[in-house]
Amino acid sequence: MRRKLVVGNWKMNGNRRANAELLAGIEEAGPFVADVAVCAPFPYLSEVALSLQGDKHIGWGGQDCSSHEAGAYTGEVSAAMLAEFGCKYVIVGHSERRAYHAESDQLVADKAKIALAHKLIPIVCVGETLDEREANRTDKVVKRQMSAVIHTLGHCISQIVVAYEPVWAIGTGKTATPEQAQAVHGLLRTQLHAATPKSGEMQILYGGSVRPDNAAVLFSQPDIDGGLIGGASLKAADFTAICRAAA
Ligand code: 13P
Repeated sequence: MRRKLVVGNWKMNGNRRANAELLAGIEEAGPFVADVAVCAPFPYLSEVALSLQGDKHIGWGGQDCSSHEAGAYTGEVSAAMLAEFGCKYVIVGHSERRAYHAESDQLVADKAKIALAHKLIPIVCVGETLDEREANRTDKVVKRQMSAVIHTLGHCISQIVVAYEPVWAIGTGKTATPEQAQAVHGLLRTQLHAATPKSGEMQILYGGSVRPDNAAVLFSQPDIDGGLIGGASLKAADFTAICRAAA
């Protein structure tokens, strides 16, 4: 039986006071049946770590990492640095990184690889744009994105978390229907099955306008193992309701 996982992706939101309130609200509502984590902006990670270090139930992580080990890469943050601050997870290949920073499938795969080398769990995001969906290219696009990671990680692919985030559902209020999401999750599971005997143990999260009122039905689909939550992860009441929906 796979455990459910709910991860808050704060994106470029928050400040020290708001973060402290949010974390206090999450801790107060826990512990949860599901695994829970928050992915905070880099400058706040040490405070998040301090605030959550006594709480074994809530993990934390970064929203990106460099594909390089160390060196002259101004502005980048390494997987080793995230690991040093107690991160358990790191999101890689979020569609906002792919779109605004021109991250390629191979770069995303390289980031996942270096994350694993530093004992972080990469949360690898895949997902199609609205144009791609309307052109019936969803399957092709997510398979291509996943395939780069499978080829780069080999048998270690079983150690990642996958997040299916249809780009048209992110921050738009347009959630994929449970059937639409399940169809892609099932496809990804089949693709992973060809790469690892452990595909049945891997967590595949759904992301894109998950809210307290739609979380439970999404999470009840056979191949949806929790969520990657954007907007709703910034309010303790909403985020914890979603965490509880992942029972
Ligand atoms: P929203 O939940 O705001 O749609 O964002 C989803 C997302 O991009 C999480 O990574």
